[in-house]
Amino acid sequence: MNKVEGRIDDCLSTRNGHLFIEQCDVIDIVNELGSPLFVISEDQLRRNIRRFQSGFEKGWTDGPVKIMPAAKANWISAVQKIIASEGCGCDIYSPGELSVALNAGFDPQYISVNGVPKDKEHIFRSIKEGARVTIDSTEEIDVVEKAAGELNKTAYVRLRLKPAISGFISHTDFSPTGYIPTDIACFAYKGGLALDQVISIGKRILKMNNVKLVGFHEHHGRHSRTTRFWEEQMKAYARDIGVVCDALGGFQPGEIDIGGGFACPRDPFNAETDYLEPYELAFLHALSKGLSIFGPAWRYKILSKLIELFLICKPNQIVAPTIEAYADACTSTLKKELSQHGVNIQGVMLQVEPGRSLHGDTAIHLSTVKNIKNMTSPIKWSHVIIDTTEFWFTGGRYEHHLHDYIVANNTDAPLVKKVDINGRSCYGDRLIPTVRVPGDIKVGDILAILDVGAYQEVSMSNFNAMPRPATLLVSGDKIATIRRKETEDDVFRRDVIPDHLKESKKARAI
Ligand SMILES: Cc1ncc(COP(=O)(O)O)c(C=O)c1O
Repeated sequence: MNKVEGRIDDCLSTRNGHLFIEQCDVIDIVNELGSPLFVISEDQLRRNIRRFQSGFEKGWTDGPVKIMPAAKANWISAVQKIIASEGCGCDIYSPGELSVALNAGFDPQYISVNGVPKDKEHIFRSIKEGARVTIDSTEEIDVVEKAAGELNKTAYVRLRLKPAISGFISHTDFSPTGYIPTDIACFAYKGGLALDQVISIGKRILKMNNVKLVGFHEHHGRHSRTTRFWEEQMKAYARDIGVVCDALGGFQPGEIDIGGGFACPRDPFNAETDYLEPYELAFLHALSKGLSIFGPAWRYKILSKLIELFLICKPNQIVAPTIEAYADACTSTLKKELSQHGVNIQGVMLQVEPGRSLHGDTAIHLSTVKNIKNMTSPIKWSHVIIDTTEFWFTGGRYEHHLHDYIVANNTDAPLVKKVDINGRSCYGDRLIPTVRVPGDIKVGDILAILDVGAYQEVSMSNFNAMPRPATLLVSGDKIATIRRKETEDDVFRRDVIPDHLKESKKARAI
């Protein structure tokens, strides 16, 4: 991002060459609290939730809408409390996420217990608390029945279907290495059950006394950011719901959950992947071998030029569809298609479980430039080394993210110098590779990495025994720490020295 002036989005702006989040100058934040830091905007989080609620309500008029954000995207307690205070539900995956959801105050009937496998204790606790269990395997329904019986409670369950689109066979964004059709990639994903399994489990549930089937669940995933992908998903989901309802003797669902998978505006997902890259690199490789006949000096000179011209990454330039556009695509298609498949939608609650699209643009990561290495010979290559690491962005590395970034103390400078922005770990740590930065980039500059609100903070590791950074919440001009920085003691707190090693140390000391 370069030459930005004024408003970047609803929570980020630039003023006199500095980046602001809400009303806070991020340079002041770093001067006061140091770096690296994750910083979340409360305002942006609340705004995104409300846009989801109103967008889906606008199109789903025959029943209520419940937004149930995916806790896995950001399970910091304060964040979950904000979401609960907006009247949302919560999609959870694990016992830990169930704890955070209950502590945050979500109404248990709107806690969607997803995932496979689910341990017995987790199922028992979910039912005891009155959460909705999304059935995602034949084995777990026996445990659910047992739990409901032993706890003398009714277990409310939904059946999770596997997305089975047929009208969208363009390649999935999930695969960085090749053109895998989206329908095949959906089948390959472990979540959800095939139709025949859903029907046979459904028939069993309908005969159970303590278990009540209340609806359906399907999570679609971030395969493509287009609204057409969502239209095709909704068509297929409606068709399959119709088939299951018929097979269950005219079953009437009370709730239909469409899961998550929408993109956030500057969608960094898979943006690092360039499908042409393997061919470009193969060409470069062959050329570099061929050039060896001219000797190293000429070889490096020519390669340097080619690298400068062709090896360049750009964060996503195309803005993803808006929350409202996704909501419109989903509700209009689902409504029409369910009716066509004979499913009565009067009073049916529509549930949505956004993760990345709700949290993504709520947070930035602030990091300080520590070193600059400019190599001019034998080839040209520059490294800007910052005090963070890709190991604190593993959620995104796994998904080949390329995040947009801004030099937060020099926001108006044109981006002219090509560099690798490297993290501090002992790996190559090419956090933001082959991008452009201001020509006068220097030690002490503050780099803001954008759109890190989903899956990043919650997937950090302690590689190189590095304590993980703090997370702040900005609300207007107020700043609060909502997850403190780790200490070195935190890093080693799980280590245990067995007795024989304690003794051997003593023996050496003598
Ligand atoms: C069941 C379920 N719901 C919602 C989500 C959130 O997905 P996203 O962050 O792509 O919106 C996930 C993510 O894996 C999920 O598994």
